[in-house]
Amino acid sequence: MGIIKAEFVISNTDVKKCPAGNLPEYAFIGRSNVGKSSLINMLTDRKNLAKTSQKPGKTQLINHFIINDAWYLVDLPGYGYAQRGKEGRARIQHIIESYLLERQELTNLFVLIDCRHEPQQIDLEFMAWLGENNIPFAIIFTKTDKISKSKLHENIQAYTAKLLEEWEELPPILTSSAEKKEGREEIIRMIEEINEQ
Ligand code: GTP
Ligand code: MG
Repeated sequence: MGIIKAEFVISNTDVKKCPAGNLPEYAFIGRSNVGKSSLINMLTDRKNLAKTSQKPGKTQLINHFIINDAWYLVDLPGYGYAQRGKEGRARIQHIIESYLLERQELTNLFVLIDCRHEPQQIDLEFMAWLGENNIPFAIIFTKTDKISKSKLHENIQAYTAKLLEEWEELPPILTSSAEKKEGREEIIRMIEEINEQ
């Protein structure tokens, strides 16, 4: 079916005010600036559905977008943005954690990782925390237009090797370029397969 309809519903800091109705939802998380909001725009084929910025720290709220009147995409604030200061970081962390721990409708989380970088402690620790809390997730390596195919392959190999030091099994791994609109079908297919289950 694909995505034929996408609408903004609500922005929140409070998980209790997220939409009622028990529809499945798919959220995007990762470091600030990794491309979460851009990916939502790419998936929905809408330029400004989710607000993006060249500067990290743009998304500060839990944002719900309803897709095909049947399920939600959720844009979350990024973690690890130092410029926010201690208090700002704690506030964002609270929003993220309460959403992830309390939101029953959360069906799968996509953890976005910039494909150019070596494994970063902050992402590895975050995924370990997801594991401890039984939150199902997949990894999406973003910004694949920024490096060659061979370098991408090399970086993903290095990343999965690092993950296998801690994990018995790897999560699903996907790639995306919001710039070149690549990876769209695979991500939507994964969501649709989960929705059918
Ligand atoms: P926060 O809301 O601040 O946490 O950031 P975010 O993860 O939502 O990132 P956002 O989508 O706002 O994108 C950050 C910057 O990266 C913007 O300048 C985007 O244009 C750029 N960007 C995002 N995805 C891609 C991509 O696939 N390729 C390239 N080349 N640039 C990208
Ligand atoms: Mg954002």
